[in-house]
Amino acid sequence: MLGLKLLTDPRWANIAESNLEEILSDHAWCEQKAATNAITLITQNSEHQELVDELTAIAIEEMQHFQMVINIIKERGYTLSRERKDDYVGRLVKFSKKDGSRNQAFIDRLLFAAMIEARSCERFRVLSLNIKDKELAKFYHELMVSEAGHYTTFLNFARKYSTDVDVEKRWKEWLDFEGELIQSFGTKEAIHG
Ligand SMILES: [Fe+2]
Ligand SMILES: [Fe+2]
Repeated sequence: MLGLKLLTDPRWANIAESNLEEILSDHAWCEQKAATNAITLITQNSEHQELVDELTAIAIEEMQHFQMVINIIKERGYTLSRERKDDYVGRLVKFSKKDGSRNQAFIDRLLFAAMIEARSCERFRVLSLNIKDKELAKFYHELMVSEAGHYTTFLNFARKYSTDVDVEKRWKEWLDFEGELIQSFGTKEAIHG
């Protein structure tokens, strides 16, 4: 699925469902971080008009997702927890290339975003297929479709704007790294836990 090397064990969905307040809070912050990442990409690469247009739409959509999640949290009488660090994303940040040319760093930031969209999409799929809560299963199905679209957008921009990067080769490196990394996850009630 989306080139991912390792699919999530469906039992992770049971862990997630056992603590909905926690998974929903973690999920809300994932959406906020996705919006923030899109805004940073816009700020740092404003010469690319098509990217500015599409990532503006994505930033808005991610904050709409944030709003949907916090509404569910409120409806269910839960409380949005404080934002906490995402170890999975932290490892991806470490893997991304920050040295080299400006274009190389830009392309890697797009691939970093595509990677997180791909795994988030896969995790939403696992939730939509395995949780017993009908309302949330439908919600996660809808988000899965949306994040798959974002994955495609980021990967296509990496291909479009690359001037000195072999994008297909680098994307394969990302998929290989992530396939190894995700083996130590799948045990916690967090979207990337
Ligand atoms: Fe989202
Ligand atoms: Fe997204």
